Amino acid sequence: MVYTRNDSPTGFQRTLINPEEFNYIDLIESKLIEALKDSRGIIRKICYHILRAGGKRVRPLLVCHSGMLFGEASEELFQAAVSVELIHMASLIHDDIIDETEFRRNQPTAQALWGVQHAVLGGDYLFAKAFRILADQKLVEPLEVMAHTVQTMCQGEIEQDSDQFQPLTDFDRYYSRITQKTASLIEASCRVGALVCQAPPDAVETIAQFGLHLGLAYQIIDDILDFCGDEIYMGKPKFTDLTKGNLTLPILLLLERSSEYEWLKEKLQERPFDQTLLPIIENAIRQSGVLKEAYRITVNHLDIARQNLRQCPNSPERRFLEELTDKLQARAN
Ligand code: IPE
Ligand code: IPE
Ligand code: MG
Ligand code: MG
Repeated sequence: MVYTRNDSPTGFQRTLINPEEFNYIDLIESKLIEALKDSRGIIRKICYHILRAGGKRVRPLLVCHSGMLFGEASEELFQAAVSVELIHMASLIHDDIIDETEFRRNQPTAQALWGVQHAVLGGDYLFAKAFRILADQKLVEPLEVMAHTVQTMCQGEIEQDSDQFQPLTDFDRYYSRITQKTASLIEASCRVGALVCQAPPDAVETIAQFGLHLGLAYQIIDDILDFCGDEIYMGKPKFTDLTKGNLTLPILLLLERSSEYEWLKEKLQERPFDQTLLPIIENAIRQSGVLKEAYRITVNHLDIARQNLRQCPNSPERRFLEELTDKLQARAN
């Protein structure tokens, strides 16, 4: 599959950020480039490849704006934001190895270009760099939060891997996976921002709850788009979840709602995935209304996120986070 590159690889960033917010994005961008300056050789190529490929930079924006709800912007806050994006980039490199995907951010993945061995090390390097940044800044609590979060993300990814091609009908298991692999980092981004800006403990919990529900919605939308999204807009191939035996919310809803698809349960357990099923499943997903149902579940999470946000100080930062929540909701509609 060939993707063409455009100015905004994932399409989301430009619509997400207000013109006056571009300073923060530019600042984060230059600090990310700076952070990777001490890398060498193939590792350097891997790091700059994934960095230059773009991405929405949602997590560093969450760190900055969650922090600035409660305090001033500072070098520590920006460095915490950089560290979170590096952790995210590392997790994407490793996730693409696990999922065996060839494209990410409209570019070939690290393992497609440099092979699995080097891609693993590139991801490890980014994790280590992220923790070094937090240590250099003496951000002890954020360091603890991020270390714990990476452990949680590993747990989520391994649960997902062990659930592949299994007869999964359990929504709790799906929620456990997405909470751990995705929502935990988005929650941690908000928590770390608030901690760096010394928000009071109850405010830290409130903004962390905002992040948790935003993060759940974020992954459910990603799972919806895996069935019906635009590949150029997403920057990655569709149907990866299904072909890797990863049963996500739309398919779980389909199997639960309709006895008509009983036969599919068996088929979905067969390795490798039978590609001839794709148009049948795509059609069933579109016709059955399960995407709307998944979207409603997403909106519920975004509403809980909004309720938490309303308890935070009314400010331009809060409006930015509200707008980000609205844009995310519009993304899957
Ligand atoms: C991709 O995250 C992985 C998920 C948690 C869905 P993003 O959609 O934030 O990826 P980038 O950073 O914009 O590429
Ligand atoms: C999120 O899950 C992966 C991470 C937490 C890194 P996905 O596997 O759905 O993410 P994409 O679709 O590859 O971006
Ligand atoms: Mg993946
Ligand atoms: Mg996905």
